[in-house]
Amino acid sequence: MFIRIASEKDCFRVSEIHLNQIKDGFLTELGPEFLRIFYSAISQKAVLIVAEENGKIIGFVSGCLILKDFYRFFIKKHIFKLAVILLFKLKKARKICETAKYSSSKENSGLPEAELLSIAVLPEFQGKCVSKELLQSFVSELKKREVKAFKVMVGEKLERANRFYIKNGFIFHSKGLAHKDSPSNIYVFKI
Ligand SMILES: CC(C)(COP(=O)(O)OP(=O)(O)OC[C@H]1O[C@@H](n2cnc3c(N)ncnc32)[C@H](O)[C@@H]1OP(=O)(O)O)[C@@H](O)C(=O)NCCC(=O)NCCS
Repeated sequence: MFIRIASEKDCFRVSEIHLNQIKDGFLTELGPEFLRIFYSAISQKAVLIVAEENGKIIGFVSGCLILKDFYRFFIKKHIFKLAVILLFKLKKARKICETAKYSSSKENSGLPEAELLSIAVLPEFQGKCVSKELLQSFVSELKKREVKAFKVMVGEKLERANRFYIKNGFIFHSKGLAHKDSPSNIYVFKI
């Protein structure tokens, strides 16, 4: 297995894995085209790391240093495509605004700016340390950029993901209230 920083050409495969493995996330609900441009922007402006086995991507982790700055870049770069995608998914688009608003809200103050946005590994490679190695690479990458801590927001129903974070040293911070219909847990990892 080989872990490396992703390039833009990996984004199609990464968005496919996201779509199939993170089924009830709000980004997933925005569809494959949205995910492709989202990960393309992440690979350019934030952190996207992939795990490869025999030349095939089997998992990835993504995150950013400052969410607000990333969304600003993303919206500016893809304004027309986003307008078309979101026009047909107005309800889902509301969730993006809720997330952005929540990130700068009072409840969220005191949390690190940096954030792990998503991690997913193909089912046949789960339970085999691929996710742990992806996480370790993500931590090293953030350390290089002088980040001292980062947060992650995960749906409370995703039992395996919650256990993965706790097992790997994340500390529970609070309940995330960005989306009333889908509560989440916020964890912090200190580097
Ligand atoms: C989250 C994810 C990356 C973790 O990777 P993983 O390889 O499954 O991680 P682990 O094998 O270390 O499993 C984590 C813990 O979950 C628990 N677990 C294992 N199978 C489980 C299951 N079927 N249901 C609930 N918990 C389970 C175990 O306690 C395990 O810890 P242990 O090794 O001490 O027994 C991976 O499960 C995944 O890709 N999930 C789908 C995408 C997702 O939900 N991403 C998170 C949201 S961003």
